[in-house]
Amino acid sequence: MRIEVAEHADALNHSVAEQFVRLTTEAVEARGRCAVALSGGSTPKNVYQLLAAPAFRARVRWGAIHFFWGDERHVSPDHPDSNYRMAVEAMLSKVPVPPANVHRVRSELPDTERAAREYEETIRACVDRAPLPRFDVIHLGIGTDGHTASLFPGSAALGERERLCVANWVEKFAGYRITLTLPILNAARAAIFIVTGAAKAPIIQQVLRDRDATPPFPAQLIRPVDGECWWMLDQAAAGELT
Ligand code: 6PG
Repeated sequence: MRIEVAEHADALNHSVAEQFVRLTTEAVEARGRCAVALSGGSTPKNVYQLLAAPAFRARVRWGAIHFFWGDERHVSPDHPDSNYRMAVEAMLSKVPVPPANVHRVRSELPDTERAAREYEETIRACVDRAPLPRFDVIHLGIGTDGHTASLFPGSAALGERERLCVANWVEKFAGYRITLTLPILNAARAAIFIVTGAAKAPIIQQVLRDRDATPPFPAQLIRPVDGECWWMLDQAAAGELT
C-alpha cells in the first residue's frame, strides 16, 4: 500500500494524471495494450478533464487503451447519474480513443443481472486472462461509509468470489448497481484510490489505520494479489491521518 498526499486537490489531480500516463504507457510498451477501469462518482471527474486537456492528451497512448468502469448505476447511459456519461463528457469524447475500445455496462437493461453477466463476458473477451483478467489500472473512490465501487457495507457482492461482475442490491439506494467484485479488483496491477476533501478524512483514518475493523470496510478488502494499491489523497482528505 502506498499513500501519497498532495497539498490540494489540483496538485492531486496532476499527480494522478501523471501516474495514469506512466502506468498506461508501461502497459502498452510491455504488452501492446492496456485495460483501465474508471471510477464513478464526482471525485475523478477533474482528473479525467485534465487528461483530456492538451498537455496530458498528447502524452497518452489512447489508441491502445481499453476503457471499462468499476461500477455503474442502474440508469441509462445519458442519465445524469451515469458513470459512463461522466467519463465520456469529461474525457472520452475529447480524446482519440477508438469507440470500440470503450466498453460500457448496458445499465439501461431492466435486468441488471443480465447486464452484469454481459459485462463479465466483455471483460473476459477484452482483458488479458492469466488466470483472471488483469486490469492495468483501476481507479476507485471511497464513500464516507467505506464503500468502494458499488461494494457497500453488508451488501451481497462483498462475498462474491467467483463472478467478476454482479448486480448488487444497495439498501441505502433501494436499488441495484452493477459492480466489479473483489476477485477482479484484486487481480489489478494497480488499484488507485483517488480521495479529496475533509468529509473523507474520518473514513480515510479508519480505513488506513483501523486494520482490525470488524467487519472490515469494503475499501479495506482491496489488496491487489500481485499489484500495487495507491491511496492518492489531498491534505484535506488526509487531515485525520495519524
Ligand atoms: C459510484 C462510485 C463510488 C464512488 C464513491 C465516492 O458509482 O458512485 O463508484 O464508489 O467512488 O461513492 O464518490 P464521490 O467521488 O462522489 O465522493
